[in-house]
Amino acid sequence: MTRFTVDAARCTQCDLCVRDCPVRIIERPPGGFPRIIAEEEGDCMACQHCLAICPEGAISIFGRRPENSLSLDPAHLPRVEALERLVRGRRSVRHYRDENVDPELLARLLSVLANAPTGVNRQELTFRVIDDREVMQRFRVKAMGELAAEVAAGRIPEQFSMVNRLVAAYVDEGRDLVFRGAPHVLVVTAPPDAPCGREDIALALAYFELLAQSAGLGTVWCGLMSLVLSARPQLKADLGIPGDHLHYQMLFGVPAIRYARTVQRDDGAEIRRVLL
Ligand SMILES: Cc1cc2nc3c(=O)[nH]c(=O)nc-3n(C[C@H](O)[C@H](O)[C@H](O)COP(=O)(O)O)c2cc1C
Repeated sequence: MTRFTVDAARCTQCDLCVRDCPVRIIERPPGGFPRIIAEEEGDCMACQHCLAICPEGAISIFGRRPENSLSLDPAHLPRVEALERLVRGRRSVRHYRDENVDPELLARLLSVLANAPTGVNRQELTFRVIDDREVMQRFRVKAMGELAAEVAAGRIPEQFSMVNRLVAAYVDEGRDLVFRGAPHVLVVTAPPDAPCGREDIALALAYFELLAQSAGLGTVWCGLMSLVLSARPQLKADLGIPGDHLHYQMLFGVPAIRYARTVQRDDGAEIRRVLL
């Protein structure tokens, strides 16, 4: 049930909610107030656009009241210059301080992530986080130890041969090329039947990266961890990830380094105008 309600004292019958509803299940009878077409209520994507678009704050849905939303007055939004600098200046950080991120800050960043878009607004992502550097250290030692044993026993399949080099760097030189000494990891997972699981996961992580870096944290995507989890599936289970679920991950923490300027790679991607 959507529990769609309209405050008649505020509604100006402007029909913005009717027009913006992506699945077009809101109607307004002549002279009346907006309502959900009863037999189409099941089509609601729970996107809350109706609540968001109403200039008068007249609409509540799912018990969410407009006064509990943040205002989108342009004065409160970052200017494009600020976001551009963040996007250009975001870097993969591979050096971390051996300390935990402030738990309050982390909780705040993670709570924002449910606002990243998901295909059909399914919101089926799970955010698994190692938020304690000691737990991370235990996971790192376990993962690399188990991989080293697999390598020593010659059990690493050909398609994961890169694991041999990662293990050698760890065992012979004490270099952690997989987890980069990071104190934390965020693993985002999606069930196999999520309509856009891979995209949803990547988007949530991209949003997390920008949020975290804007808060002074360092992040780095960790594709190598996928390799490690594929070579040693029990580690995936240790993290609580069901075997058939999609996942991707990002290391993060308080950076031990600071980048002084942006890189210059605007020409790194080809831009082609399409003309028909
Ligand atoms: C999907 C993806 C997976 C990545 N996996 C790793 C990784 O396992 N280890 C690592 O050190 N960097 C990893 N990176 C970081 C890239 O190497 C990095 O983004 C690239 O070199 C550009 O540097 P920048 O992020 O500082 O701009 C990954 C990046 C992406 C987007």
